[in-house]
Amino acid sequence: MNLKGKVALVTGSSQGIGQGIVLRLAQAGANVVINYRSHPEGAEETLAKVEAFGGKCHMAHCPQSHGYTLKADLGSVDEVRQLIAESIQHFGKLDILVNNAGIEKHAPFWEVQESDYDMVMNVNLKGVFFATQSFVQHLITTKRTGKIINISSVHEELPFPNFTAYCISKSGMKMLTRNLAIELGDLGITINNVAPGAIETPINTKLLNDPAKLGALLQNIPLGRLGKPQDVASLVAFLASSDADYITGSTFFVDGGLLWNYQEQ
Ligand code: BGC
Repeated sequence: MNLKGKVALVTGSSQGIGQGIVLRLAQAGANVVINYRSHPEGAEETLAKVEAFGGKCHMAHCPQSHGYTLKADLGSVDEVRQLIAESIQHFGKLDILVNNAGIEKHAPFWEVQESDYDMVMNVNLKGVFFATQSFVQHLITTKRTGKIINISSVHEELPFPNFTAYCISKSGMKMLTRNLAIELGDLGITINNVAPGAIETPINTKLLNDPAKLGALLQNIPLGRLGKPQDVASLVAFLASSDADYITGSTFFVDGGLLWNYQEQ
């Protein structure tokens, strides 16, 4: 996979899956924008790892490093637009957008607070919608093709009790991808979803620290382990490359077999 000369923005990449994606894309030669909301130290750590790969930025516009950190809350459309604009300003262009930032809130349906509902929908769906819109506008203006990869979840299909807003946001992401695959096809822009199952990341801290829950979950995963950010990142790198030029409008599950696991005891 060769992404030399490409510029990628990965939202929510100071930790977890986003960090894994940034590292994998940088390893393939891409210049990367590392976005964070509340963990500048995680973003700096990610940047240091990117720089440790060595290699220089291959573009005229590029300053010293092939990584760059930018703060933005994906729940705010103003900040989302600013993030895309500053990424373009820094590296001169954008070729790949990975909509990775996502949050979830645990609560029984009858106790969900409006503010929590809004937060989940704003980051997971509205932010993705408008980041994608700004990215597409940039590609149209500069008459170039590009790749959009959304980090969805098995829960774009699978119900997850006590996480209803999260599930709605991810299944909304599925329809966003199907719709845009058609609308952006003529522009040579592809869009796909990568849908992780249970991955070892900070979003799962509670689960990872609860041996009973973790054991029960592992029973449901045919491959018998949680995923790692690298498991997700390698698929994203493929979808971001020219090897995937004919792929659009699809969801690819990275879940160790979790989604379709059904067994009678
Ligand atoms: C959620 C995790 C959950 C996993 C498997 C992910 O989308 O973020 O909290 O453990 O799906 O259910």
